[in-house]
Amino acid sequence: MHLPVVLNLLQASLSSFTGLLDFDPSANVSPYDLDRLATLSPYHDRAHVPGVAAELPSDCTVDQVVLLHRHGSRGPEWEDKYIQKLVETLDNSSQAIGRAHLPQNLRFLKDGYKSDLVPHELTIVGRRQLFDHGADFALQYPTLSTDVVLSSPVQRVVDSSRYFGHGFFGGDVDTVEFVTVDELDVPVNWITPWKSCSKYSEAKGHAAASAWASKHLGVDLSDDDIRGALFACPYDLAAHNESPWCAAFHNHELRSLEYEYDLLMDRISGLMSNNDPGPVLGSVYVNKLIERFTNATSDAKELYLEFGHDTSILLVLSAMALNKDATPLPVDHIRVHRKFHTSEQAPFAARMVWEKFSCKKSFHGPQIRLLLNSATYPLTTCQKSFKDKEFGSCSLKEFISVNRFNLNIHYGDETWNATCVD
Ligand SMILES: *[C@@H]1O[C@H](CO)[C@@H](O)[C@H](O)[C@H]1NC(C)=O
Ligand SMILES: *[C@@H]1O[C@H](CO)[C@@H](O)[C@H](O)[C@H]1NC(C)=O
Ligand SMILES: *[C@@H]1O[C@H](CO)[C@@H](O)[C@H](O)[C@H]1NC(C)=O
Repeated sequence: MHLPVVLNLLQASLSSFTGLLDFDPSANVSPYDLDRLATLSPYHDRAHVPGVAAELPSDCTVDQVVLLHRHGSRGPEWEDKYIQKLVETLDNSSQAIGRAHLPQNLRFLKDGYKSDLVPHELTIVGRRQLFDHGADFALQYPTLSTDVVLSSPVQRVVDSSRYFGHGFFGGDVDTVEFVTVDELDVPVNWITPWKSCSKYSEAKGHAAASAWASKHLGVDLSDDDIRGALFACPYDLAAHNESPWCAAFHNHELRSLEYEYDLLMDRISGLMSNNDPGPVLGSVYVNKLIERFTNATSDAKELYLEFGHDTSILLVLSAMALNKDATPLPVDHIRVHRKFHTSEQAPFAARMVWEKFSCKKSFHGPQIRLLLNSATYPLTTCQKSFKDKEFGSCSLKEFISVNRFNLNIHYGDETWNATCVD
């Protein structure tokens, strides 16, 4: 970390950083991959999985599509107070900064550092991500349409659904009905199921992950200004596509930030969660998906456009055990090879696309494929044949069969209550 050098010059209280002033300006380090900032990553496509075909066989047709989209890049949430405090510290110290000799990557501080981040709201970058994804979607599925769009009631998600709508429907967007899950007459909805689960608390995860960070990153990240600078990197990117702060950190520090957020999200939605609410909450979506794919209520539509949060998507993967690590992620070191990897699974504007397709010859009966951030996410839990593996898909029949667990959970039953009711 180079920031302590500066803070030292500013006579900030730095006793805990003295061991870290090892910055060698001549060291030739490759820049950190800024797509790897966990759930704060800017949208990027996932890499194709080696050995899995990118396209379906030419005799296949996609008959039904269910989209679950995360909102686009947004302003900070609980992190905002750290960024604001950093801005204040730097502002108060502007004279000392003016006199100081700063390494190249911190010279931007001479001009002062201002922050215009708007907490919680969709950014301009986020707006563009959603519009582009709407247009991409229309190009990819030119024959499918709908007249209703469903979203979480949170403003940035509503806004995201509208920008997507402009890209997808063009001028016809005015004829489309935009609905939020609050307007549905259901005891629990499949986009924000945690709202119907009183025992479930996101706050627990936050506290735990922060404690982990200050304990194991080798620096005292409870130092609010350092935290602020670390958060300023992804949030400047979210708002402006660039940040002077990203280059102020060593690669291993940004990798730790990524891991910290993975731990946080794994606690909220995955294997490490208390009482394992992930699969139970995610089952609401899986049930809805199967209901639609089987047309169980005889009113299934060919296309669903739905908008939610990172947790909305991660819960679905969790319920199907598609991102489940064999053993919980360790908290005393970074496990590099892990299935739970939110940089790939739930960056800003993440898109989870479920396809039902049928083929003249290649497959018999309806098949299911998942595209997550544009690349096939192999449905390893229900694959049977060599062909299934080749295309990352599986038959609807097997898909239903392996999801028995989900189909057996219902709102207000014993399993649900054990997880959700005090
Ligand atoms: C900045 O200076 C103001 C005025 O002296 C002071 O009230 C405030 O606490 C300082 N802020 C920080 C973060 O040091
Ligand atoms: C579901 O069944 C109804 C009634 O048979 C039909 O009109 C509708 O097109 C079906 N939906 C899909 C997606 O196949
Ligand atoms: C689950 O909890 C609800 C609310 O407390 C209660 O009405 C319901 O009977 C419970 N279900 C079971 C199976 O105990």
